Amino acid sequence: MKISIAKHGGFCFGVTRAIRMASEASRGGKPVYSLGELIHNSQVVKELKSKGIVTVDSLRRVKNKNIIIRSHGVHPAVLKKLKQERFTIIDATCPRVRRAQQFVEKLVREGYEVVIVGEKDHPEVRGLLGYAGGKAVIFSDRIKLRSRRVGIVPQTTIEVNSLNHAVARLMSEVLEMKIYNTICYETISRLREAMAIVKKVDVMIVIGGKNSANTTRLFEMCRAFKPSYHIESADEIDPRWFRRVERVGVTAGASTPREQVLAIARYLRRLTPAVRRSKKQS
Ligand code: F3S
Repeated sequence: MKISIAKHGGFCFGVTRAIRMASEASRGGKPVYSLGELIHNSQVVKELKSKGIVTVDSLRRVKNKNIIIRSHGVHPAVLKKLKQERFTIIDATCPRVRRAQQFVEKLVREGYEVVIVGEKDHPEVRGLLGYAGGKAVIFSDRIKLRSRRVGIVPQTTIEVNSLNHAVARLMSEVLEMKIYNTICYETISRLREAMAIVKKVDVMIVIGGKNSANTTRLFEMCRAFKPSYHIESADEIDPRWFRRVERVGVTAGASTPREQVLAIARYLRRLTPAVRRSKKQS
């Protein structure tokens, strides 16, 4: 069984940076609190907890004043509250997300109606809406524009096709359209590489948290071409998936550490003889 591992699978720059910042901050022995999981990967979250990086769902649960802002960024009102309440803020907002927030602010200042292309419940999108001060809408096919001067900002992790679709849908209704392409190139290269691999393999394994939007998207895209399985760890692997399979592709979302990807690839390699036996028996 030949295994092709995506080079772009594994932590993205923003997640690596957030984990590094949190680890450095917790080194002094004081726990650091993250409002929501620092990363959508239960194994990593557990590991981080043992290093003193604790997930909380409300500021009331923060026992000291050390708080880390996740790579998705937050609504500016949250930041304001943290400052007012004198929290020590470790701001791990990914610089690429920060750039999108700044474009939103700029568009509002320049009088454009801001259209955000992304998932309405995603923390990054909620933050972007906040930076528009209530003057932005989320793109949907039923969108009703209030202005003919529109500024578009996509969520960093959406597919290029979603941005293209929004632009094509709005084009006939506007006089002026400004587009900031804030889609992160790590997202693009990850999807492109997965699409190239999926065409050459019989089965695709997509590793990452089930609650990770970018991993789920990666999985959905792979599944459209070949039998694909979304797993968080090697224990979920069923050897029967690989009966009569000669080539397997392995990729991962932005919240999966590279070591986890390589460990699962090693596990798959160890499965090879068993798979061959089941091939002969059938
Ligand atoms: Fe940042 Fe791109 Fe990751 S925007 S958080 S590096 S997917």
